[in-house]
Amino acid sequence: MDKIIIVGGEKLRGDVQISGAKNASLPVMVSALLAPGWSTFLNVPNLVDIKTIKKLLRNLGAKIEGEGTVRINTEDISKCEAPYDLVKTMRASVLVLGPLVARMGVARVSLPGGCAIGARPVNLHIKALQDLGAEVELKDGYVEAKARRLKGATIYFDIPTVTGTENIMMAACLADGTTLLKNAAMEPEVVNLANVLNGMGAKVTGAGTDIIRIDGVEKMHPVEAAVIPDRIEAGTFMIAVGMAGGDVRIMGCEPVHVEALTMKLRDAGMEITPFDGGIRTVAKKKIKSIDITTLPYPGFPTDLQAQMMALMSVANGLSVITETVFENRFMHVSELMRMGADILIHGNSAMVKGIPKLKGAPVMATDLRASASLILAGLAAEGKTELSRVYHIDRGYQEIEKKFSAIGANIKRVSG
Ligand code: EPZ
Repeated sequence: MDKIIIVGGEKLRGDVQISGAKNASLPVMVSALLAPGWSTFLNVPNLVDIKTIKKLLRNLGAKIEGEGTVRINTEDISKCEAPYDLVKTMRASVLVLGPLVARMGVARVSLPGGCAIGARPVNLHIKALQDLGAEVELKDGYVEAKARRLKGATIYFDIPTVTGTENIMMAACLADGTTLLKNAAMEPEVVNLANVLNGMGAKVTGAGTDIIRIDGVEKMHPVEAAVIPDRIEAGTFMIAVGMAGGDVRIMGCEPVHVEALTMKLRDAGMEITPFDGGIRTVAKKKIKSIDITTLPYPGFPTDLQAQMMALMSVANGLSVITETVFENRFMHVSELMRMGADILIHGNSAMVKGIPKLKGAPVMATDLRASASLILAGLAAEGKTELSRVYHIDRGYQEIEKKFSAIGANIKRVSG
């Protein structure tokens, strides 16, 4: 298995180009199930998770061509099943549930099972589909759903679930009548999906707020649309500049999508300057400790919590980091502590006492964002850090070591 080797101490300088968003690409590519014919999606990143969703869609009968610019034809959907061996590798596969029931009237999707950061049930997806009139049964670890035609309804999400909102928004596009999603997720990826659906002839309004209205239509048609930039990749690089020091222009990101992070990094003493086309990120002085609480968008993103913890571990004070979205998203703590970080976990909060320097060490990636936090720690650490199980990082970051090396980091991938 590959490893990533980092020798810390280099400042970061130059420009880094942000790729398309993983968490926008997945629902956008699945939305093609609603619109028979050739759709074209631009700015799709080359990631392991994108390969997985392509495999799943091909498994259903879709024809798929290209990388970066991806063309998908779902004219001949012949199967309505998402098998366990695919779903267990990527829980976002559950996104095919709503569109398959809406387009084909039936779907058999494996329950995803747990993952490193939490149980991550899909009960809210299932409940909402039942609210739209689907008959749903849980059998042999699969969700079996069917409906001659879904019927518009008012749906209230107990939690503003991102993929739950996306799943049901897609299902409601072909339902008979109007659907209201209340306490809907407001992430930019939800807005991106709504815009793509409207380009296909759907009638979705209110995306980006907590109430989304979908007026069902009879049929939808293919579209050409772009995926938004990856705000989590952009945030990861912004935090990296705080770790290593330097002056980097984060190109191709949407400053408004990383506003919560921008405010926090300014409080920590960094200079963050949005410009037309990206964000300039400068760290010249010692980083100050600040407190972080993760929340659904527009709050501070849980997907940047691990990276912020790495930064706070070398800040000059005490930082309290509270994770409110997932119940087990501190897997990076023990690895950071192997590098000398001084962290105490208490419930869903971590008390991080900043130290002058981390020490490079062999560390192990446990989940996608934890892996990113360990790379960041390696950039700031004294000596060599060796990160194993880098397949986690390849799920969500496109050539991360090449991007870091291009802005001055001493980082390389070795096949192990
Ligand atoms: C999406 O996951 C993202 N994944 C996650 O990114 C992200 O961390 C998360 O949203 C929160 O922002 C994709 O978009 C593909 P949720 P999702 O449903 O939709 C509970 C990454 O690193 N919940 O908003 O699965 C759930 O357990 C990944 O790129 C239920 O209880 O997250 C969690 O505690 C990690 N029942 C909370 O809601 C449900 O039916 C938020 O989960 C659904 C969710």
